[in-house]
Amino acid sequence: MDKTKIIDGKMVSDLIKAKVTTEVNEIKKKNHRVPNLTIIQIGDNKASSTYIKNKKITCEKVGIICNVLTHPETITEAELLNIINQLNHDSTIDAIIVQLPLPRHINSEKIINSITIKKDVDGFTPKILGNLMLGHYQLLPGTPKGIMLLLKHYQIELAGQHVVVIGRSNIVGKPLANLLINASATVTVCHSQTKNLSFFTKQADILIVAVGQPKIITSEIIKENAIIIDVGINRDQDNKLCGDVDFENVLPKVKMITPVPGGVGPMTIAALLENILYLYYQNNNF
Ligand code: GUN
Repeated sequence: MDKTKIIDGKMVSDLIKAKVTTEVNEIKKKNHRVPNLTIIQIGDNKASSTYIKNKKITCEKVGIICNVLTHPETITEAELLNIINQLNHDSTIDAIIVQLPLPRHINSEKIINSITIKKDVDGFTPKILGNLMLGHYQLLPGTPKGIMLLLKHYQIELAGQHVVVIGRSNIVGKPLANLLINASATVTVCHSQTKNLSFFTKQADILIVAVGQPKIITSEIIKENAIIIDVGINRDQDNKLCGDVDFENVLPKVKMITPVPGGVGPMTIAALLENILYLYYQNNNF
């Protein structure tokens, strides 16, 4: 494998984790309260359990406390709102995540909006997303932030480049498209209703794929020397982790590419760690 083409998210995330560890150690040396992330999981969605486990392990590696509160699928919206209200007022908690997706009977938007902006570590509340669109950056949602950090680390030029984003979720596609526009890229956003997807993908200097379908991007539908960012985390027929991009198939044609695992995934968690520290410092006058 041509390693020079690999955008190594694991390596870049390790650099960020080392920096966060140093900062947490400084906090501990001063005998200040240790930063605390609280994650709420509703039900037992398998993918959510994996994501939460990874977040918890990584937090604990860098010295951040991570509590996971699990509740059954049958919890009511009112009960969940009440739990969030208590966490909002708990001065020992810096950051709150309500892991998505939520069961159908719960209004996700209402739940996310009930998290105080002071603890919205995901950056999903409307004010944060509105400010992001306007280019006023405070805290950024984890995956878009992780991708931007990765592009920056590898000094990948964005100004004037045609970036095609596939996926329009509130978590990844929409905020990412705005960050890229603000970085002077020419941005096209494609999604499940896009007609003739390959017409767009073939034009992408940088192709960012966040659709959650294994290996849908192949060498026939990308531009020669494209840079590919793969946000997907899927299982292939052999139950092996794979992205939305057919990695082996496109590798000879690309300039650079993120692998799965070891690309965007670890960067999302690294961005989360930075966000926890940001909220910790914002909300404490140490
Ligand atoms: N589900 C998938 N990704 C995320 C994330 O980044 N945050 C939350 N809260 N839920 C998710």
